[in-house]
Order: sequence, then structure tokens, then C-alpha cells
Amino acid sequence: MKILAIETSCDETALSIVNATGPIKSPKFKVVASEIASQINIHRPFGGVVPNLAKREHEINLPILLEQLKTKNLKLKTIDLVAVTVGPGLEPALWAGIEFAKNLAREYNKPIIGVNHLEGHLYSFLLPKKTGIMNDELRISNSKFPLIALLVSGGHTVLLKLSSMTKWKKLGETLDDAVGEAFDKVARLLELPYPGGPEIEKLAKEGKPIIPFPRPMLHQKNYDFSFSGLKTSVLYYLRDHFPLKRGEAADVAASFQQAAVDVLVKKTMRAVEEFGARAVIVAGGVASNKFLRDTLKKEAAKAGAEFFCPQFGYNTDNATMIAAAGYINYLRKRKLPIKANGNLGI
Ligand code: KG4
Ligand code: ZN
Repeated sequence: MKILAIETSCDETALSIVNATGPIKSPKFKVVASEIASQINIHRPFGGVVPNLAKREHEINLPILLEQLKTKNLKLKTIDLVAVTVGPGLEPALWAGIEFAKNLAREYNKPIIGVNHLEGHLYSFLLPKKTGIMNDELRISNSKFPLIALLVSGGHTVLLKLSSMTKWKKLGETLDDAVGEAFDKVARLLELPYPGGPEIEKLAKEGKPIIPFPRPMLHQKNYDFSFSGLKTSVLYYLRDHFPLKRGEAADVAASFQQAAVDVLVKKTMRAVEEFGARAVIVAGGVASNKFLRDTLKKEAAKAGAEFFCPQFGYNTDNATMIAAAGYINYLRKRKLPIKANGNLGI
């Protein structure tokens, strides 16, 4: 089936057309075309995403992206299903995508399906490397469960235990800031531009993780996380060491990144051990971080668990992952209300 997917939950406006086939256990996806308009430059002066500005930009970008899809010789009347993110996210931003999806579905007389943004991240590891190629190797089977999934983005930090592709239990989540939010806030303290995650990663490469920042909740027996204390420790360190000596900012970045990754990886691996997991997934914007991916991959290998991570470009927000999650919802006959729900859980 051919799916047109729409993603507007935060600061990326994204449209994607995906051919999806196969059962839930071995879905196959081929990206026909995908468009993303990033609003990073618009929100950068504010140091974060401004919801009403995001909505306005989505409304401007969506018809432009649709025209770009049409110029690639894509006939919208051949679409079988419209999939749209209904939450979680910034509600004004979600409204823009939902209105657009409803209008398209009405105009072309197509069914519409709602998608949970976090399920998009969860299933993004199934997507093929390149546009025009089908992921024909079977990437997931019964032998991979139970599976532990770590979803890490600007808005969420969640640990899940999956017993199948569609059944999971939330083991824990952040009690305050999401880990991506902590990267962004620490970047701001270091006067690096928004979004801070990639900037911290880059700067960390020039430094050493020698500052003993705390590993919040590492030794607690639950699977919850907390990152606001870590960010505050960075703030105090910067205040006490003002002005930083040459090269010291890189040590701060490396030490913060090490502390955050330590907590994420250790808690994930503790869950792998406790539940005898056969595989591990990491996904979401922060999974673009190579240090996190490499560390988790190494630890998963030591524990004999297979490691999955989305292909390049599918960690940060995109509409292709929404098409994948929309297809799985369709196969499950699962209907989410076509209504923005900023706090939709997983
Ligand atoms: O999944 P995503 O694109 O949007 C949300 O759903 O939130 O994630 C964005 C977050 C931002 O906080 C950004 O700083 C972080 O992902 N991020 C990174 C890296 N690339 C993006 N964090 C650490 N290292 C990176 N390389
Ligand atoms: Zn996201």
C-alpha cells in the first residue's frame, strides 16, 4: 500500500510517500519520496522551539513540500492511506499537520490514520537505508524478543520492554528533563547554538571526560531517569570556574556527554540483563549521537544481544517513520483519534 505521511509535532515539517507491504513481523518499506523543511534557523534566536511560530511555519511549508512531491511525478490519487502524527508534541504544531492531513484525505477521498510520534521513533529502525530501496532482509523475528528499546529525543527519554512488535511495557522514563533537552540546555550554557546535541557531540571530541559530573539515579533500582540535576551541576561548574580556560569547554562537553551516556547505557543494559533481552533498539534524535550508539552497541554485544539503530537521517524527526508506524497501526486495525494530543503517552 502507498502511504502519504505527515509529521509536524515539533520544528521539522516533513512529508513522505512510502510503499509498505508484508505482515507486522516482517514489514517492508520502500521510500518513494521524502521531504523535510527544518525550522532550526527560525527558532535559533529564541534558543528553543516557539510553538506558535512552529505552527505558522508548518502551515507555510506543508503546501510547498506537497508541490515538491508532485514535481517528482507522484500522483496523489494513487495514495491508499494518509498517516499523520497526532501526538505527543507541541499542540499548535500538531494542529497544522492534522488540518492538512484532513483536507488532503477529504480532497482525494482517502482514509486517514493517526500515529503516535514515539511509535514512529520506535519503528524507525525498520526503514531502509536509501530512497527507492526496499528493506528486503528480515530485520526482526520472534527470536529477537524480549527486546529493550531506548527512545531518546528532545521531548522524551523512555525505556520499553517489547514482547512482540506491537506489545510493550514502559519500564521507566525521565522524571524531569528529556536527555535531548539536557543536551540543548548544556549547549546553551556553553553558548553553543540550538539544537545543542550535535554541537555538544562535536565539541566533546576535542575534550576529555575528566570532570566528575553526577550520574543521576544510576544506582536506583528502577528504570526512571533524571537529567535536570546533571544540567544544574554543569551550571554550578561553569559558575565556579568562570572564565573557562582554553580547551576547558570541550572537557565540560565531554564530561557531560559521558555522564548522560553512562546513565542511559547502564540502565538499558540492566534491563537487558534482568529480562534476558535478545535485542536492543536505540532511536530518537539523541540516537544520532555516535558516542551513545557505539557505547550501547558494544555493551549489547557483550551481553549477546543484537543491536538495532535507525539508518542515518531517521533518528531525528521525519515523516518516513510516521508512515512505518501508520502501516503497523493499519495492520493492527488500531484507530487513534485524529485530534492533537500533546501529552499522548506510549
Ligand atoms: O527526535 P528529535 O528530532 O525531536 C523530538 O522528537 O524531540 O530529537 C531532537 C533532539 C534535540 O534535543 C537535539 O539536541 C538532540 O535530539 N540531538 C542530539 C544529537 N542530534 C540531535 N543529541 C545528542 N547528540 C546528537 N548528535
Ligand atoms: Zn521526535
